[in-house]
Amino acid sequence: MKFFIDTADLTEIRSLASSGLLDGVTTNPTLISKNGGKFAEVIAQICDVIPGPVSAEVAGTEYDQIMAEARVLRKIADNVCVKVPLTPDGLRACRHLRNDGTMVNVTLCFSAAQAILAAKCGASFISPFIGRVDDIGWDGMQLISDIVEIYDHYDFETEVLVASVRGPNHVIEAAKMGAHVATLPPAVLRSLFNHPLTEKGLATFLADWAKTGQKIV
Ligand code: G3P
Repeated sequence: MKFFIDTADLTEIRSLASSGLLDGVTTNPTLISKNGGKFAEVIAQICDVIPGPVSAEVAGTEYDQIMAEARVLRKIADNVCVKVPLTPDGLRACRHLRNDGTMVNVTLCFSAAQAILAAKCGASFISPFIGRVDDIGWDGMQLISDIVEIYDHYDFETEVLVASVRGPNHVIEAAKMGAHVATLPPAVLRSLFNHPLTEKGLATFLADWAKTGQKIV
């Protein structure tokens, strides 16, 4: 399973890049607004740090505007993945951009039917927002299960990019289902390391090692 980081915060991205765990980055207008800075410059800086796909979302909603913005965004770096909304205009743009060899992430997916449409338009990634589905009392993980099952029946090139991830259980369940990618807020990625028995075991080993009076180097 690939891990993307769901943030536009360069300090976080630089710090987590050294972990060797990051395969890409996703941003959205909310994250860009929270982070501040000029959009194109922020994306260029992220692309310098992370060689994998870096999602940069269009702000237009009509086909011509989406395509005009996508042409600007994809010139920022070779690893820019243009993010488009799951709308008729967004998917039409997706089809054209994919025909040109541009990576496309189709965002704001909340149903398996929408995921089928995105795959038929050649999306590189489909982003189902599982946390937001859970938030309204539906089942985000069931959505991932449905999409993975459907995609398994065909030779779609689209990867399932699990988004709106709220905690480790989302990651574990998505991995069990075979989702290709999870995009994680930095705090969720860090939380994957945590286990009280790891902390307790390490404390015991260190205390016992100190009793030996030895050093390895
Ligand atoms: O980047 C898209 C998605 O991950 C947003 O998550 O937490 O705003 O629902 P959230």
